[in-house]
Amino acid sequence: MTSGLLISLEGIDGVGKTTQIERICAWLRDRVDEVLAVREPGGTPLGEALRELILQRVEAQSSLAEFLVFAAARAELVETVVLPALARGAVVVMDRFIDSSVSYQAFGHGLAVKIVDQINRVVVHERTPDLTIWLKGDPFPMARADRVEERDAQYYARVEQGYQWLVQQEPQRWLVVDSRQSPDEVFGLLQERIETLLNDM
Ligand code: TYD
Repeated sequence: MTSGLLISLEGIDGVGKTTQIERICAWLRDRVDEVLAVREPGGTPLGEALRELILQRVEAQSSLAEFLVFAAARAELVETVVLPALARGAVVVMDRFIDSSVSYQAFGHGLAVKIVDQINRVVVHERTPDLTIWLKGDPFPMARADRVEERDAQYYARVEQGYQWLVQQEPQRWLVVDSRQSPDEVFGLLQERIETLLNDM
C-alpha cells in the first residue's frame, strides 16, 4: 500500500455512524497493517478545542465564520494526522469530512457551495475520499441537548438535500445506505463495498 485508503461516513445526526465506524475498524484491523478512525470536528488538540467551542459554547452569527472554524479544525487534522497516515499506507476512516460542510454550512445555512468547495479543496490538499458512505436515515432526529442539534426539521431536510446533491455530482465516490435497516444489514453492505476497494489497492 502506498497511498492508503480514505473512507468517510456522512449523514445527519443520530443515524448510527459511530457504531458502524467501530465495526468497520474492528473488521479492518484483522486485514490491514494500520487503521485509523478520526472524527470531525476534532481528532487533534486544536480540533477538539474548536469542537467544544462550536458545539457547546459559542454560536456563530455568520455561517462563513462557522464554516471557517470547521475548516480550521479540518486543516489541522488533514495536515497532521490524515495525510501522514495515508502516506504510511493506512486506511483512514473519518466520522464526517468535507461533505458535512457542503450539506450543513451550504445547504443548511445558505453559504455558497462554491465557497465551501474551494476552501475544502485547499484544506484537504485535493485528497478527497476514495469512498464516502451516506447513512441515509430519518431526517427528523430526536432532539438532543447539543446546540448544533437543536435545529428544526426544515434545516435537516435541507441538509439531506445537500447530501443528495453531492451524490449526484460524484456518484462513483458514494455508497448510499438506508440506515433504517438493522445495524447488521448496514454493516454487511459497507463491508461488501470496502472489500472491493481493498482488493483494488
Ligand atoms: P457530532 O456530535 O459529531 O454529531 P454526529 O454524532 O451527528 O456526527 O457533531 C457534529 C456536528 O457538527 C453535526 O451536527 C454536524 C456539524 N458539522 C457541520 O455543521 N459542519 C462540518 O463541517 C462538520 C464536520 C460538522
